[in-house]
Formats: sequence, C-alpha cells, structure tokens
Amino acid sequence: MADSKTGELMEKIVSLSKRRGFIFQSSEIYGGLNGFWDYGPLGAELKRNLKERWWKSMTQFRDDIVGLEASIIMHPRIWEASGHTSTFSDLMVDCLLTKKRFRADQVEPQNGIAYFFTGAADPQGKESKDAFSVLVPRGKPPESARKAARQFYEQRGIQNPVLQGERSEPVENSTRYNPENGSLLTEPRPFNLMLKTYVGPVESADNLAYLRPETAQAIFAQFKNVLEVSRQKVPFGIAQIGKAFRNEINPRNFTFRSREFEQMELEFFIRPDEAVEAIYGGVAKPAAPGHPGEPQPNWGWRIWHQYWVEERLRFYESIGLPRNSLVEYWQKPDELAHYARATVDILYKFPFSKRDEKGELMGEELEGIAARSDFDLSQHQRFAGKSMTVFDEDLKAAWPKLSPEKQAELRQCYAEARTKYLSKTGESPDKAKALGQQEADALTKGYYVPHVIEPSAGVDRLALALICNAYCEDQAPDDKGKLESRVVMRFHPRIAPTKVAVFPLLKNKPELVRRAREVYELLRPHMTVFYDEAGAIGRRYRRQDEAGTPFGVTIDFETLGEQGPDLKDTVTLRDRDAMTQERVSIKDLPSMLSAKLC
Ligand code: GAP
Repeated sequence: MADSKTGELMEKIVSLSKRRGFIFQSSEIYGGLNGFWDYGPLGAELKRNLKERWWKSMTQFRDDIVGLEASIIMHPRIWEASGHTSTFSDLMVDCLLTKKRFRADQVEPQNGIAYFFTGAADPQGKESKDAFSVLVPRGKPPESARKAARQFYEQRGIQNPVLQGERSEPVENSTRYNPENGSLLTEPRPFNLMLKTYVGPVESADNLAYLRPETAQAIFAQFKNVLEVSRQKVPFGIAQIGKAFRNEINPRNFTFRSREFEQMELEFFIRPDEAVEAIYGGVAKPAAPGHPGEPQPNWGWRIWHQYWVEERLRFYESIGLPRNSLVEYWQKPDELAHYARATVDILYKFPFSKRDEKGELMGEELEGIAARSDFDLSQHQRFAGKSMTVFDEDLKAAWPKLSPEKQAELRQCYAEARTKYLSKTGESPDKAKALGQQEADALTKGYYVPHVIEPSAGVDRLALALICNAYCEDQAPDDKGKLESRVVMRFHPRIAPTKVAVFPLLKNKPELVRRAREVYELLRPHMTVFYDEAGAIGRRYRRQDEAGTPFGVTIDFETLGEQGPDLKDTVTLRDRDAMTQERVSIKDLPSMLSAKLC
C-alpha cells in the first residue's frame, strides 16, 4: 500500500498533469471512462519524444533491426496460436453484496471474525438457501454482520429476513472478503482480457475479432515477409511501436494500468544454441554481470538476453531515469511463462510501489525482457501451416566438418527440445518424437526456427515514470530576488516536451519583441520552442519550470546594444536546474542548444 506521503505526492503529480496539460481523463466532459487517458499538448510531445528516441535507438543507430507497423486488428487465429484466446486471463472475484469486481491477486488479505449464515426466510415463509458470510473487524458487534447479511437476502427477494444457521470463527490473512465492506467474494474465475469487436456488418461468431493485446504477435506473423525484403540474416530484430488494448479488471494507479496503451516491442531473432555451437565450436555465455559488449557471432541465448537487459537499462538512463530508481528483477522459475527460459522485469520505483520490509520502494514493471525460445514462431508455423524456418548457409557449411560425436550430441539435444515443445502442444509422444527427429534432420542441413529475445516496454508507463521522476519542489528567487517555492519538472533535455522558451524582457518595447520573435523563428526549425511575453519574467520562468522546459532565452536591452557593442546580439540563456544565466551570442544558439539535446 502506498503511504500517505507518497499518496500525497501522486495526488500532486496527477493534479499537475491535468493543470499543465500532460494527461487528461478520457471523455472527461461525460464523467470519464475508467482505464482510458488522453495526452494534452505537453504530454503528447513527451510521448512522441520518448517513442522517437526508442525508435531511433533501435533502427537508425543499428544495422541489425528493422521496423514494422502492423494493423491493430488481425486474423483471430493469431490469438489462438499465441495462446491469448485460451490463457490470456486474470482471475476475478465479485463482491456478493455490491457486485464490485476485483482482480483476485489484488485483494488485500484481511483478519477478523467471519460470520456465516446458511440462509434466511421471511415471515411469509419465503426462503433463500444461499450461504453468505461476512468478515467484521475484531471487537465490532455481530449486529453489523447481521445487517450485511439481511441486505444480502433482501437482494434475493426475502423481505424482513430472519437469518438462519449463524456461526462465527476467527479468520487470518483471508483474501475471500471484500476489503471495503467485509462481504464474501465469489470464487475466483478467469476473465479473458482481450477486447472484442466484429469485422464487417454482421455481428456473428464468424466475424469476431480482437483489438490486439500486444504488438508482438504481428511481428511473428510477418516474420517471413520482413526477412525476405530486409536482406537481414539471423541474428536480427524487428521493432514495432503501437497501441495495445486489454480489458483490465481493475485499471489503477493513474495511467499505470490502462485499458488502452502503447507498447514498444522488439523481437530479436537468434540462432538456437545448437546452431551456434556447430558453427563456432562453442557457445559464449555471460562471463560476468553487466554489459557484455558488442554482439559477437558465437553468442548463445543467455548472453543475448543479458545484452538486451543491459541495453535497455542504458536506454532508461539515457533519458534521465537514474540507475538507482530502477530495479532489475529476475523472475523466479515458478513465475516464468511455460515457454520462457528467463525473464527480467525492469521496474521503476513509482511513488505508489509497495515497500519492502526495510521501507524501500520495490518498483513496478516498466518493461519485460524475455528469452522466449522458438515458441512463438513454432506456434504460428503450426497454426498457419506455413514454414517459419530460416536457411543458414554457415550452419550448412559447418555441419559436415563436425566430428560424428558432436553431430550426434547436437542433433540429440535439438531433437529433444523440439520433441518437448511438440509434446506440450498435445501431440502424442510417438508423433512428437518423430517430428522432433525430422526437425533435427533439417537442422543438419541448415534449417531451424529462430529463437527470440523480446524486450517489451510500455510507452505510457514510461511517460508516467518520467513525469514522477521529473517532479520536484524547490526554492527559486522571484523578480525581487526573494526565494519562493517552485514546482519544477526536471525532464532530461532529450525528452523534455518543450526544449527552449523565448522571452522578450518587456512586451511593451517593440524592438525587444521584434528581436525575440526573430530568435524564436531562428530556433524553431531545430527544436520545440515556446514564445512567451505575458507577465513578469519571474512568473514566465516559473511557468516553464512547471512544463519542464530545460532552457530559457531572454532578449533584453543588452541584446539591442544599449549597454555597448560587446553585448549587442547576445541573449541570456537560463538553465532550468542550475538556475544559472550565461550570455550567449544569438548566432551560436541553434548549435549550442542542439548539442545539449542530442
Ligand atoms: N509481448 C509481451 C508483453 O506484452 P507484457 O508484460 O504483458 O508483455 C509489456 O507487456 C509491457 O506493456 C509492460 O511491461 C508494460 O510496460 C506495458 N503494459 C502491459 N499492460 C499494460 C497496461 N494495462 N497499461 C499500461 N501498460 C501496460
């Protein structure tokens, strides 16, 4: 549970987000829609900046990743292949009194005295045999439990109910009761999180489709097309940014858990370890914690996974999230998805995160980096009946040069892994074994289904983390030099929504205004610039501090040359965080500011 101080901080962040136009409630004029959010002028810029940063770091600055932009609605078989139709569910429970719905794993454990009732009847003899139970805190009179029970039976048509079979017992750490009113909850049952729609004019089962719950599956479905057109060879990746939808039972913590959100996902395809070993005589594994350096051809899945965890941590640091605000959480074996070999979640210490026994924020997930084996492509190969194998010249050339023992060992290893996968899909043991052997034969000729490492991040969660991280209250001098408290959003200049604000010192001096507008026009081809001439200069600084604008340029009388020729055509450049001001020549501004933003 968030304590009151962090709750207060979140309230301030939510309020600033609305006041300054970062995030608004969706459909606010109609009372809002739970789990949906809109980004205002500053929020839209912030999101664009961080998506662009991610996109460039993945595609523009690398030779081994290409992009994709797929449709949101895809063939429903995709979600059968991926497992979403059958297993993408959360367990939910409903309050028997109010019908309020909870995610079963989010119900806080309760202690107290549970009162049980076997049924109730009214004076006319009408009866309900529905059992009911209610939990009341220790020391509270039993009448409160009876009151809730009477309400329960009244809802079932029993007027003035006489309660039957009352008994009570102490209960510890139970998640069977509604923390808000003590009422018994229904048994947990799965609730599929995919949002449904119909394609075409007929609302029939044949036309049922889903809004994608993740962007990843389109990458797998288009794997072969991308491979053919991009002239890439494994190892290589496909990156995508786009909307995803999940009908979350309980959207919460501002935008953290929403029903509509954006993801930035990379599927990085690698050789199976058996192929790496056949080609390079061994598989490089992580030698030490930390970044393993530039990718090498003999890397196996473990080192590729570690590489992507470290790359992603570097990315977060590069946009201003300090390393100590992030947690690298290695999922335990019993937490891993059945196809995953390892998953690391990168957590950010949000103010609403739970605290550990030492009082430290534990963090909430920003991104998961999963080593997903060859599961996804294999599933689409089976469901679509289209080959997802690649041909690897190097493997074909290397195989005949291996010793017979090595060939047998690698073949056996690969056959076992494929047999295991096929058995899990429901094939009979004999068929799974036979198919596994066939696939191992194909490996010896250079064919395999690539494995994948998947760094999957949420844009909205990252935007929220950046807003929380940037929020700061400190003291700054007003126009008369007196210290006043200010709210400042300390965004890294790289992702700040507005990069620089331009101010004429006074708005009633046409020459100052003219020069300020010139500076504004000079800068705007290079960066987002805000022009502001309204109010005292101190107030204008404060407004930009709250918007997180890292630099302010003021055009004053020195700029006009009124204090002598040396300062003519110079301006003051204010730094939001240091609150320092330096004099800079106007002609140097574009290059100087651009250098601070890259
Ligand atoms: N393809 C893998 C995948 O989708 P995930 O952990 O379910 O994995 C990846 O989602 C990321 O998407 C999460 O780390 C989170 O940042 C974001 N995300 C997931 N559900 C979300 C939600 N309801 N609201 C906002 N972001 C969400």
